[in-house]
Amino acid sequence: MIEVSDIVKSYMIDGQALHAVNHASFTVRKGEIVSIIGHSGSGKTTLLSLIGGLTRPDSGSVLCDGTDIWRLDDNSRSHFRNRNMSFIYQFASLIPTLTALENILLPTAFGDFSGDVRAYAEALIERVGLKEKIRAYPSHLSGGQQRRIAIARAFINRPSVVLADEPTGDLDEETEQDIIRLFQEMNRELETTFIIVTHTREIAAQAARQLRMSNGILTDAA
Ligand SMILES: Nc1ncnc2c1ncn2[C@@H]1O[C@H](COP(=O)(O)OP(=O)(O)O)[C@@H](O)[C@H]1O
Ligand SMILES: [Mg+2]
Repeated sequence: MIEVSDIVKSYMIDGQALHAVNHASFTVRKGEIVSIIGHSGSGKTTLLSLIGGLTRPDSGSVLCDGTDIWRLDDNSRSHFRNRNMSFIYQFASLIPTLTALENILLPTAFGDFSGDVRAYAEALIERVGLKEKIRAYPSHLSGGQQRRIAIARAFINRPSVVLADEPTGDLDEETEQDIIRLFQEMNRELETTFIIVTHTREIAAQAARQLRMSNGILTDAA
């Protein structure tokens, strides 16, 4: 379902090429949960943004359900992303002037969403344990609570793929487990595919398959 082929992204820094992602290839089947573990600076975020259609690769391709996302024009790629994928960003990404519920509903403003999206948003906020914060603004939420709202938002479009960049980064251990459990439930209920980036071994180990990123090079984690 996701096929990454020989993908490369380099940055020029002081006239030197830095190979953030260096010829990475891998395939993720529909409904699989894959983790990518690696130290800070190893290229994990860059890799996710290449897969998620946010950063254009220098070369290589990304196929998602047969669609070569980097061959689409910008509009089509945004549309494709909105329909099929969700990104959980490493750092806070909520809109400060919108409430928790409005933040979760935000993606529905950019596409044709069917059904009762508001009821679904409320169900999601309940699933991340923040029902009582439905009308709260991000500045009135803790870092971990903001993170959980961003996670709820990632499910509003019922994505087939979730790309999660250190999704449990600033959460306590218990909440961290709740989030992983939620991912596993969504995976079972909706066959959602997950690619989860982490620097924690315990999180990586809960995925069915583990990959490792090291200096831009992706390998199977043995
Ligand atoms: N926009 C950018 N411009 C220049 N260098 C970048 C940029 N984004 C990332 N890098 C560099 O690429 C490498 C990989 O970064 P990143 O993908 O963020 O790693 P990770 O997520 O594993 O911490 C790092 O050395 C980082 O400094
Ligand atoms: Mg990162």
